[in-house]
Amino acid sequence: MTDPNRVLIFDTTLRDGEQSPGATMSHSEKLDIAEMLDEMGVDVIEAGFPIASEGDFAAVSEIATRAKNSVICGLARAQIPDIDRCWEAVKHAQKPRIHTFIGTSPLHRAIPNLDMDQMAERIHQTVTHARNLCDNVQWSAMDATRTEHDYLCRVVEIAIKAGATTINIPDTVGYTAPRESAALIRMLLERVPGADTVVFATHCHNDLGMATANSLAAVEAGARQVECTINGLGERAGNTALEEVVMALKVRHDIMPYTTGIDTTRIMALSRRVSQASGFLVQPNKAVVGKNAFLHESGIHQDGVLKNVETFEIMRPADIGLNEANIAMGKHSGRAALRAKLKDLGYELGDNQLKDVFIRFKALADRKKEVYDDDLVALVQDAATNT
Ligand code: KIV
Ligand code: ZN
Repeated sequence: MTDPNRVLIFDTTLRDGEQSPGATMSHSEKLDIAEMLDEMGVDVIEAGFPIASEGDFAAVSEIATRAKNSVICGLARAQIPDIDRCWEAVKHAQKPRIHTFIGTSPLHRAIPNLDMDQMAERIHQTVTHARNLCDNVQWSAMDATRTEHDYLCRVVEIAIKAGATTINIPDTVGYTAPRESAALIRMLLERVPGADTVVFATHCHNDLGMATANSLAAVEAGARQVECTINGLGERAGNTALEEVVMALKVRHDIMPYTTGIDTTRIMALSRRVSQASGFLVQPNKAVVGKNAFLHESGIHQDGVLKNVETFEIMRPADIGLNEANIAMGKHSGRAALRAKLKDLGYELGDNQLKDVFIRFKALADRKKEVYDDDLVALVQDAATNT
């Protein structure tokens, strides 16, 4: 990677995203989503956890075989059989990656019952083993944000020396905050020998609603891979949402001068496909991809956007591949919006007719949450026959 401000997008919808309770996707849905991610310009697709099940193994293998552009990555615990199984699945890819991880915080070290030295040795052995199989190896310090800094520096250095090419610093439980997220990456880049030879990744969870902010703060501090999922799908409150990071970097390029390789016009189609496959509906007010993200209902806003769309829109719906009208007709809508909407529907009314329809429209809007195009047509026809 030659551009120092290029940020790699690592999508884990099919691995961390699928770990949301109830979000299991079928084999063909996974192939479909992987193809869309590949075409969209995602740099790395984490396609699954090959040792977890026969189904995951089959999905990762087939995605690896089919991918045209993206690096295809599989997840493996810090155990030799996991890493071997992962390699068996990803080796079919033109660009394979093994991603191995272990929990480094005191709470996580207690689970396999390893002391600090034993865990350091395990990291050395497993990363070395992965690197002997594949020249693209990612190592993650699970729960990095709750790991002692000295120990984190020590194990990151071991992983780099053993051949890891990407070092991931996950905020596994969504505990960090933007300033701390940035300081952690900066500290590692300053203190760890060899840090400048690898890519640092940020992997945030959204338990406190800060995943996107924490990821962007990490980028500003020097992380050059953001791990994320479509619609922010993921365990508990989810992962960093791909669409939020990518659009934030695009819209606020003036203050965050980083680029991605994502074709943003494909975002909406992917959002809908992932929602449909996972069965997880997107909340209407979800940033970027929610149903209401580009809709204006109040009269003041509608009047503004009809005169100059930039008054209340910081990005265009077309930027994410949405080509639908941005005016929602409801009880807060004004006369200017009604006139424009009726014009779109093929009705150009004189002032008196418009006044009449507007009164009927307001009465209806008081009874109904949203007034649809068919309702408006009925109102115009009713006004024409009853005046
Ligand atoms: O959140 C996390 O720590 C993870 C690791 C497996 C990378 O998903
Ligand atoms: Zn995670």
